[in-house]
Amino acid sequence: MASPAEDLSHVDLITPERWEERVLHDEFALLRHEDPVHWHPESAPNHGFWAITKHEDVVAVSKNPQVFSSGEGLTMLEEVEPESLEKRRSLIDSDAPLHQHLRRVVSPLFTPKAINAHEAFARATAASLLDAAVAQGEFDWVLDVAEPLPITVLLNILGVPPADAEQMITLSNQMIAIDDPDYAPDYDSLPPGIDPKDLPFGSPASYHVFEYGRQIGEERRSHPTDDLVSRLIHSEVDGDRLTELEYCNMFQILILAGNETTRTTLTHGMGAFIDNPDQLALLRERPELMGAAVEEIIRWATPVLYMRRTALSDTELRGKQIAEGDKVVMWYMSANYDEAVFDDPHAFDITRDPNPHLGFGGGGPHFCLGAWLARLQIRVLLEELLRRDLQLESNGPVRRVRSNFVNGVKSMPVRVAR
Ligand code: HEM
Repeated sequence: MASPAEDLSHVDLITPERWEERVLHDEFALLRHEDPVHWHPESAPNHGFWAITKHEDVVAVSKNPQVFSSGEGLTMLEEVEPESLEKRRSLIDSDAPLHQHLRRVVSPLFTPKAINAHEAFARATAASLLDAAVAQGEFDWVLDVAEPLPITVLLNILGVPPADAEQMITLSNQMIAIDDPDYAPDYDSLPPGIDPKDLPFGSPASYHVFEYGRQIGEERRSHPTDDLVSRLIHSEVDGDRLTELEYCNMFQILILAGNETTRTTLTHGMGAFIDNPDQLALLRERPELMGAAVEEIIRWATPVLYMRRTALSDTELRGKQIAEGDKVVMWYMSANYDEAVFDDPHAFDITRDPNPHLGFGGGGPHFCLGAWLARLQIRVLLEELLRRDLQLESNGPVRRVRSNFVNGVKSMPVRVAR
């Protein structure tokens, strides 16, 4: 095999415009084959990173937080000064014991039992969105169904007024897809003295979500209800409550993580059924495949392209010497199409079993908190779709988000198939 450094220098996993065009499956297949733990350069001020592309290695890194830290740097590619890191620190950018503490505050609110209590609301929301969209005949799957469903459900759980859904979607977009000109944040909206680099994603939108969360939190501090914000404010773990900064960071991450990822999954899932009508017909015939279909949709969509860790000590992976301080990037998108684990990975197959996808992470301590909530929403939407005997077809080009972090879609025009 020729030297990977020469052969693979053209591989670029990070220019956002490339992701806007397509998922970089060809590049990942090449890396998995030629250099699965690949040193990927970056332009200054960043220093480059190890691209981890095999399923087995993503799991190994995820499950070894003693070496691969979430708190030493961000979980995104961006490199920031320690002071900014401290201000931005949330559940996802922390290690034990802080991570365990924060996680114990929120975990009881996201168990299958706690989440299933929201099924009736999620189903009614899915049903009314589908009915309103279908009545138009032609509509945008993202704008009319996939975007409003998760935010409506999430705000209901949090106890945030539904009228503010639009504002939360706009702010989420401006956090997650800061490279996309359609979602450019408004830097002038920051009050004097607030530096964007101290904010999650370096985005002013994070400040506004913080402030929004802070105000709701203040209200619930004096007038608690049984919503999730009240519980976050009043829950005690080992005699401690969340500090104000911890609460605001938690609110911000829930708004973001609970909204954008599920929207993306619902969109790629519908796209897959449009391209593979036999799979929808199969699900209609065999509703017992619903659980497997939901997992295949998550694998197929892989809404979060990667998470980063930072090496706390020198270590070795697949013969590569990883130095203390190196960035290690786990590409879930590559792992979920690893032919060593998934037969015919580019086939959308709702009977795939087992389906050990890493869409929710590689199984370490940061495994997605909202996995049950996401699964619930995918399932009820599909059930409502099947109940209406709906088959959709494409009605125009899909527009992807310009981002190397999320597999987002801005627009997917569809129409009801006759
Ligand atoms: C299909 C939808 C979703 C996908 C694909 C997804 C994916 C992920 C991934 C890949 C991680 C990082 C795992 C790791 O680092 O090991 C994560 C973490 C997280 N997710 Fe999700 N997510 C989804 C939905 C949700 C929802 C609905 C919520 C909540 C309302 C949520 C909240 C979180 C939180 C709070 C974390 C950080 C957990 C921690 O650091 O302990 N996610 N998610």
